[in-house]
Amino acid sequence: MKRRIKKKNILLGVCGGISSYKTCELVRLLVKDSFSVKVMMTEAATKFVSPLVFGELSQNPVYFDMFSLVREENIQHISLSQWADLCVIAPLSSNTLSKVAYGICDNLLTTVVCALPFNTKVLLVPAMNENMWKNPIVQENVNKLKKLKKYIVMPPRKGILACGVYGEGKMAEPKEIFKHLKSVFKK
Ligand SMILES: Cc1cc2nc3c(=O)[nH]c(=O)nc-3n(C[C@H](O)[C@H](O)[C@H](O)COP(=O)(O)O)c2cc1C
Repeated sequence: MKRRIKKKNILLGVCGGISSYKTCELVRLLVKDSFSVKVMMTEAATKFVSPLVFGELSQNPVYFDMFSLVREENIQHISLSQWADLCVIAPLSSNTLSKVAYGICDNLLTTVVCALPFNTKVLLVPAMNENMWKNPIVQENVNKLKKLKKYIVMPPRKGILACGVYGEGKMAEPKEIFKHLKSVFKK
């Protein structure tokens, strides 16, 4: 008798940054490879890519309102954090990176991340202006997260940034994130 393999659940957080357009391709790659994907967005992220796009690509509702009146079996942020086999945040903004490092829970995404079970890994894919990335406060927060084995950081790449200058700040490419994500399950 054939045993059906359970699809892995990817909870994908999207922050407010230009590279969020690349996250659409990541969703497509994941769905094509039979992952179940649920997208949660910060309010800033919704100004860059419409939730409608992520909803269509993931074939699931998109979550961005902590106080939404849609009834679920469980409170939304708890059910989402329990649903995830892996959480990915791409792009991760400087703002959300620092909030996660301090356990701040002031929107749906940061609250869900804080509520994740301890053994659920979080793949962080930052993207930002080079000065932001190299800011000692941001670096201190990155190092704080790296020390906790729960968080895996894919550092930004070098290239022409959205602000038009060459520097270290580009989000890793969707194919790279996809490959890295799959390797996390093999470990
Ligand atoms: C056009 C534009 C591009 C931006 N790109 C980035 C970015 O790549 N990385 C980043 O950390 N912030 C970026 N920001 C600033 C964030 O959107 C802002 O800090 C916001 O508060 C982040 O909120 P969030 O962390 O809740 O998504 C950008 C803002 C604008 C207007």
